[in-house]
Amino acid sequence: MIIKTSTKHLVDQIDFAAYQEKVNEVHKSIIEKTGEGNDFLGWVNHPFDYDKAELEEIKKWAKYVRENYEVLIVCGIGGSYLGARAAIEAINGVVGKGKPEIIFMGQTFDPTYTKQCLDYLADKKFAINVISESGTTTETSVAFRLLKEMIEKRDGVEMARKSIFATTDANKGALLTLAKQEGYVRFVLPDDIGGRYSVQTAVGLFPIAVAGIDPEAILLGSQKAFEDSTNPDLAVNECYKYAVIRHDMYTKHKLAAEMFITYVPSFVQIGEWFKQLFGESEGKDKKGLLPDSATFSTDLHSLGQFIQDGTPCFFETTLYLNNHRDEIKVPHDNDNLDGLNYLEGVTIGSIQDKAFEGTIAAHTEVGGINNVVLELEGMNAFNLGYLFYFFERACAMSAYLNGVNPFNQPGVEVYKKNMFHLLGKPGF
Ligand code: PA5
Repeated sequence: MIIKTSTKHLVDQIDFAAYQEKVNEVHKSIIEKTGEGNDFLGWVNHPFDYDKAELEEIKKWAKYVRENYEVLIVCGIGGSYLGARAAIEAINGVVGKGKPEIIFMGQTFDPTYTKQCLDYLADKKFAINVISESGTTTETSVAFRLLKEMIEKRDGVEMARKSIFATTDANKGALLTLAKQEGYVRFVLPDDIGGRYSVQTAVGLFPIAVAGIDPEAILLGSQKAFEDSTNPDLAVNECYKYAVIRHDMYTKHKLAAEMFITYVPSFVQIGEWFKQLFGESEGKDKKGLLPDSATFSTDLHSLGQFIQDGTPCFFETTLYLNNHRDEIKVPHDNDNLDGLNYLEGVTIGSIQDKAFEGTIAAHTEVGGINNVVLELEGMNAFNLGYLFYFFERACAMSAYLNGVNPFNQPGVEVYKKNMFHLLGKPGF
């Protein structure tokens, strides 16, 4: 099992059998695509049904970018941004820039960040992957306009056209129109897949492939997660078991939030992706758990105080990596002024394991905080594809158990309308 849902550290036990019938019902509605928002259930079978010819194009163009450019700018926001970033950082790490370097833009209006990126790019050979289903998302459009102007002025319109890759809706949208007009290489976000469920489509796979990660392995991992969730029996379905725990924590224990914890700095962006997936899918009709995230042991020196002793309004979901990818031992020091010689020869990973055990005991036994542990077998592209699908399926189950449509986001429009009005956009 690539992800195992451990209930060992739950303070309150859960009557899984009581949820089985409802879970079976929701499972059927996901598989048969009969639930609310069912026109956005394309992600369910996508790991098998994906466009094979497009995957070849993704690999071909990714190779081209890897061989010909120093930097790829991924220009997008929300579902058109977080999955690729989470994947690239989880696999390639956060320190040391791979080739080509991947830089994210279009996810902010901050003028300083934007200027710093543009200044940095001034003497770099860069390609752009602009990603937008609608093609009208303001953050993305503003950044893309700046990038397009810069590259066209510097490299000429013809060269710019060769350096821009557009990921768009299959049939509609302003970006699709522009991409056709300019002749950019195009990739597609299928109509029946929403942004936050799109990391296994070209939205995630093209930047992932440019970063040197095998896109096929991501899809194969997602296939395996699909297979592992075929049987809805909560005794064997780790994904639904996790969804039920969330639901129980929310409805029975009246908890307001879920803290998503990892111990790996390069998984911080998985936490950001997780927050969008669950927050945007479930937080509606004045319902839903607030998804939050923290990285331990880093945040044990900051948020740790609140988690241990503050308002007990949350439970923890700890994604724990069972196998560390690297082994580094604590060296000997003749002076031993720091008193660390008792750890001489001990691996840092095993120190982390002890920190994890000690923390879980502190939070559950002393703090009384429920903790569900998702044991991840190891991190590689296959397991990451598994993880993405695991959470997508768990999110759909969890939202349907809560009686909300997991695939719309009506609340996101409110800030946009206000902003457009204030900016004087015609029609607002
Ligand atoms: O999940 C979603 O639907 C959103 O987060 C979108 O991905 C995000 O708003 C970006 O939209 P677009 O791809 O249309 O630019």
